Amino acid sequence: MTARNRRLRSTENSEVTAPLEMSGVSHIVGDRMLLVDLELTVESGTSVAVTGPSGSGKSTVLMCALGLIRPDTGVVSVAGRDMVGLSAGQRARHRREHLGMVFQFGELLPELSPVENVALAGLLAGQGRRVAFERAEELLEELKVPVSRTVTGRLSGGERQRVAVARALVNQPAVLLADEPTGALDQRIRDQVCDILFDLPGTHGCALVVVTHDVEVASRADRRLELWNGVLREPREKGDTE
Ligand SMILES: Nc1ncnc2c1ncn2[C@@H]1O[C@H](COP(=O)(O)OP(=O)(O)OP(=O)(O)O)[C@@H](O)[C@H]1O
Ligand SMILES: [Mg+2]
Repeated sequence: MTARNRRLRSTENSEVTAPLEMSGVSHIVGDRMLLVDLELTVESGTSVAVTGPSGSGKSTVLMCALGLIRPDTGVVSVAGRDMVGLSAGQRARHRREHLGMVFQFGELLPELSPVENVALAGLLAGQGRRVAFERAEELLEELKVPVSRTVTGRLSGGERQRVAVARALVNQPAVLLADEPTGALDQRIRDQVCDILFDLPGTHGCALVVVTHDVEVASRADRRLELWNGVLREPREKGDTE
């Protein structure tokens, strides 16, 4: 676990807030109320899986947490600071320092090596060159990515996703977000990536939110929530009435 996240954890019982707290978040797109007074709190060292129908707003929730979408109302507190009230520049800095994101297809730069892809995120956040590259190599080793001069574009889907996880971790984020991180993988590789992802809150102390359509992936999280009619609720079993 990183020193910063240990500190966050050690103060959990005091007045310090959870690293991710979304409260009263509402957001309208077009003439549709997509998020309605949404609440979500994720503590350090724990994971939450979010499921829900396509188009229900799952990615939008993550974009709000990242500060890429500003909700119409509500508070999006990341590492104790409300993203909604920050300027674009402050939001970008806060995002780089406290949030990591893993996308469905990795979204890496294919012509760079895995180490360069991971180190780049550290350099952009202001880490020195030596620190960024050392940390990138350590993380790739931890996540068992074969570190070579091979460009990232030639790696398998599972290897690329592990590089994407390493990149998301390079700045020791308090909050790690993943949007369909296993959606493009076969079952065996999906399980390997899940093993890595759901271990991270324990090993790195971060709060993890995984959006997925896959119930098996969702079942790995400490807590499961479903986005339904703009709010996050406990998942209902099939056949339950609304
Ligand atoms: N700027 C916008 N203007 C109008 N509609 C939008 C805008 N942004 C998003 N939407 C709509 O909001 C809805 C929610 O989108 P979102 O991508 O969050 O859904 P999702 O739950 O992640 O779906 P999926 O499971 O398919 O990825 C969609 O119907 C989308 O078309
Ligand atoms: Mg989505």
